[in-house]
Amino acid sequence: MSDQSDPELYFSTHVFCCTNQRDPSDPRGSCHARGGVGLRNMFKKKAKSAGIEGVRVNAAGCLDRCEFGPAIVIYPEGIWYTMQNEADVDEIIQTHLIEGGRVERLMLKPDQVPPQTD
Ligand code: FES
Repeated sequence: MSDQSDPELYFSTHVFCCTNQRDPSDPRGSCHARGGVGLRNMFKKKAKSAGIEGVRVNAAGCLDRCEFGPAIVIYPEGIWYTMQNEADVDEIIQTHLIEGGRVERLMLKPDQVPPQTD
């Protein structure tokens, strides 16, 4: 472990939104096919409109929780959500980003993992 202190955070919060696209025949599906691009764009726009400082909303490649997508993960907390519609976006922004709470009904749990294929 380094004995150097880390620099101050450039962004206090990162929201990574999967927008990955796969061939429609892929059995895992993709967040793109489930509307991930539109929801990410909406999330970014609404977070900016809300005037939340220090938050960066990024499009991300596959986060490997495709079956539960569109998937997002918020750091540094490491909290995962699925979001299906505008109401979900609004609730995550208000409850998590603004109030510092958790949207329990949309959280992905640790046991929600991809099916094992090996
Ligand atoms: S395609 Fe979005 S998590 Fe894999």
